[in-house]
Amino acid sequence: MYKIRKAEKLADKIYLMDVEAPRVARHCEPGQFVIVKLDEKGERIPLTICDYDREEGTITIVFQTVGASTEKFAALKAGDAFQDFTGPLGCPSELVHEDIESLKQKKILFVGGGVGSAPVYPQVKWLKEHGVDADVIIGAKTKDMLILEDEMKAVSGNYYPCTDDGTYGHAGMVTSMIEELVNGGNKYDLCVAIGPVIMMKFTCLLTKKLEIPTVVSMNPIMVDGTGMCGACRLHVGDEIKFACVDGPEFDGHLVNFDEAMKRQQMYKTQEGRAMLKLQE
Ligand code: FES
Repeated sequence: MYKIRKAEKLADKIYLMDVEAPRVARHCEPGQFVIVKLDEKGERIPLTICDYDREEGTITIVFQTVGASTEKFAALKAGDAFQDFTGPLGCPSELVHEDIESLKQKKILFVGGGVGSAPVYPQVKWLKEHGVDADVIIGAKTKDMLILEDEMKAVSGNYYPCTDDGTYGHAGMVTSMIEELVNGGNKYDLCVAIGPVIMMKFTCLLTKKLEIPTVVSMNPIMVDGTGMCGACRLHVGDEIKFACVDGPEFDGHLVNFDEAMKRQQMYKTQEGRAMLKLQE
C-alpha cells in the first residue's frame, strides 16, 4: 500500500497529494508519470509526477476531478493509501538529457494550462537547479483556479499568469500572452506546452507560425501503461505512437490533436455511467 502523507485542495476540483513511494521517488525524472489505482477494482489513472523528494521517498501528484475515480481520490485524506502506485513510467523530458551548457544558451518558454501547470513545475525546477532560467506562462479560467503560483515564481525566470476572465495577470488565453512576449522582442528556442489538448493544439498552431519548436505532453486514456493495450495511441506525423512508452512528450507540430480529442470523447458515456453509480 502507498500511504498518503499529505492531501490538500489547491483549487476547485484540483487536489495535491504527497504519497510515500520510495522506489518511484528514487528513480523518477521530470516528465515521467505514474499509474495510480485506489483498490482492487479501481480504475488505473495516469498522473504526471509533479514533484519528488528522494530523501523523504515521496511523490507529489496533482489531479483534477473529472470522473468517478478521481472523485474517489479526492475524498482520501492523509493516512489513507492507494493500493497501486506504478512508476516511474514513460520517457523523461528530453531536457534532462541535454548538455547543460547548451541549455544555458537557449531561451525556453513553458506554457501550462489549468492542472497542466503541475507537470510543468518539475521541469522548470530541474532547469533552475541546473542554472537555467526559463520563462513560464500559466493559464487558468479565473484567479482562483491558478495553482502552484508561489512554487512556480520561485523557480521560473519570468512568470506570466493569465486568466480567461481577466481577474488576474494577463487577460486572455495563453496564446495571446505568447504573442505579446514575441512581439515584445522575446526570441524563444523552445516551447514546452502542457495542459488541455485544445490548449496544446492552439499553442502549437501559433508556435508553428512563429517557428518555435514545441514539445507537448500528452495524457490520453491509458490502461496498462506499458505499450501492450494500445489505448493511448496517437498519430504523430505519419507514425502511430503510444503515449505511455514513446512519450508522454512529443513534437507538438506533428501531433494529430483532433484525433486525440475524438478518442477522449469516446469514453464520455462510460464515465457518465460510472458517475451515476458513485451517486447511488
Ligand atoms: Fe496501453 Fe499505452 S496504455 S499501450
